[in-house]
Amino acid sequence: MCTTIKPSSLINCCALTLSMFFAAEIQAEIQAENKLEKTYGFGKTASAADIAKIDIDVMPDGRGAPPGQGNYAEGKKIYTSKCAACHGIDMAKPTKGTGAPALRGGRGTLTSGNPKKTVESYWPYASTLFDYIKRAMPFNAPGSMSNNEIYAVMAYILTEGKIIDKKTVMNTKAIAKVKMPNRDGFIPDPRPEKFNNHK
Ligand code: HEC
Repeated sequence: MCTTIKPSSLINCCALTLSMFFAAEIQAEIQAENKLEKTYGFGKTASAADIAKIDIDVMPDGRGAPPGQGNYAEGKKIYTSKCAACHGIDMAKPTKGTGAPALRGGRGTLTSGNPKKTVESYWPYASTLFDYIKRAMPFNAPGSMSNNEIYAVMAYILTEGKIIDKKTVMNTKAIAKVKMPNRDGFIPDPRPEKFNNHK
């Protein structure tokens, strides 16, 4: 394959050989991933049911939110057993070393030199809470919570953040009615979508 010893050609030749090597490596990796379970004895291809558990899009007006409901008292129990270990009992002081952010507090700090971005102070829509918790929390068991549990924990977080009343039952319709403190804090970006290739 390498018939010349000119340094530049040698480099090109090596680069070609290397890229062929990597292409073969990637191919092999894909095949190995397909047979992950057999090859390494762990992992499995996600089934349609696995994907369905976390495949949701909940919009600010409640569209996409599955049926269900939950209240403050139920949410308090769930938060205490499934969330407080990382996010802290009062949601404002998360446990060091877990990487969990504060979910409460920080209101009025966004325009200061030390902005504290939390669900309470920063998030513009309550729908994101459902969407995010369903998909990603608890951190150690994402996708494990029922819809009713998520509505309940939302009711608890939003009440503790003094955004809704303790009596509010959280459900599909209630999501759209929540006015988050920073709802109007975001402005549309006026720059044209130069690199948006989506049709
Ligand atoms: C094992 C620790 C752990 C547990 C338990 C846990 N979380 Fe989290 N949580 C995290 C970490 C870490 C992040 C940050 C993830 C990231 O930024 O990628 C996070 C982020 C979040 C966020 C996004 C906050 C923001 O401002 O970005 C919400 C909301 C949340 N968690 C809610 C919950 C709820 C509700 C529960 C209980 C059902 C829960 N978490 C349980 C570790 C945890």
